[in-house]
Amino acid sequence: MRTLNVELGSRSYPIHIGRDLLQQQALWLPCLRGRQVMIVSSETVAPLYLDSVAGSLREADREVATVVLPDGESHKTLASVEQILDALMAHRFGRDCTVVALGGGVIGDVAGFAAACYQRGVALIQVPTTLLAQVDSSVGGKTGVNHPRGKNMIGAFHQPLGVIADIGVLDTLGERELRAGLAEVIKYGLIADAEFLSWLEANMPRLLARDEQALMHAIEVSCLTKAAIVAEDEREAGRRALLNLGHTFGHAIETGTGYGTWLHGEAVAAGMLMAADMSCRMGNISTQDVARIKALLEAAGLPVAAPAGMDADAFLELMASDKKVLAGQLRLVLLDAIGNARVRADFDPAMLRATLEGFRRAA
Ligand code: NAD
Ligand code: GLY
Repeated sequence: MRTLNVELGSRSYPIHIGRDLLQQQALWLPCLRGRQVMIVSSETVAPLYLDSVAGSLREADREVATVVLPDGESHKTLASVEQILDALMAHRFGRDCTVVALGGGVIGDVAGFAAACYQRGVALIQVPTTLLAQVDSSVGGKTGVNHPRGKNMIGAFHQPLGVIADIGVLDTLGERELRAGLAEVIKYGLIADAEFLSWLEANMPRLLARDEQALMHAIEVSCLTKAAIVAEDEREAGRRALLNLGHTFGHAIETGTGYGTWLHGEAVAAGMLMAADMSCRMGNISTQDVARIKALLEAAGLPVAAPAGMDADAFLELMASDKKVLAGQLRLVLLDAIGNARVRADFDPAMLRATLEGFRRAA
């Protein structure tokens, strides 16, 4: 097992990464507050792992209650948050209770937001069960839900007391979900670590074959990068925005196609290539760099074009309500080089339209 730390002063917390961690009480106990624990999971993950987590908590003499939510991005809603709050109230859970988010990024974001809201904030432990959640969403304290008009538009920062990333649970993860997680892994190489990007190019077949050592390395490097960025800029006043490479395009895809049609990682993959294309049009990276990024995304089995029928106007309309819009001005994370990104508002809107037209596919 490897343990990394997210350094946030008195709110610092560990990220434990390894196999067979769900039953290890020694990892759980320091992260629990009080006796009452609410485990939030999904209809897919609960049958696989809920008993194991609930069992180790009960053995540690905790009062355990559970909420099992319907699966998928279309349930990342205020209604799901309400379901968790109702359960916390029904069980008369106090301010010293702990919410455990056992699932992928959707469960982590929804349960995290419920924990942020209940009695103005109770303890949270993230137990990510997808690759995407292990490398990204469980770390850093962003929680929230979607609005029909925009992704993640309702939420709060609420850091967990610990992250327990058991890589054994990835054994049951679907192929498509594994690939979607690799999009966020590739993101870290693109924004901050050219050497890691080369490692990913060389090791993509091992990652797709779920080689344990390769997965451990990819998760560890990703979490190290994210932890460092979050420690520097917890509330996204600056550098943290780089973690959104490809996300302004990607969120438009997720909203435009209907939540859950494209997985988040798939939308981010196409979005990162769009951002690379824009960066090339602005003269910052070469066409060879763009081809290299495209080849890596394709090797990971990720989409590299816009959804069929989604035209530039549809993108621009949705991108206008992105969270990075400042004083009415759209800002995009663009590449200065592979391994180096920057938030920019100084682009020609005609260039953005040209990029979007270039990715258009017939309906
Ligand atoms: P997800 O939570 O919908 O999980 C994908 C699918 O995998 C679901 O069907 C789920 O039930 C299933 N699953 C989960 N673990 C499994 C396992 N071990 N075995 C079998 N099936 C399993 O999607 P995701 O890709 O994990 O997360 C995407 C979400 O994360 C998006 O809503 C995105 O906005 C959010 N996100 C948040 C942050 C953040 O910082 N908070 C960062 C990145 C992404
Ligand atoms: N995934 C974006 C962030 O955590 O800031």
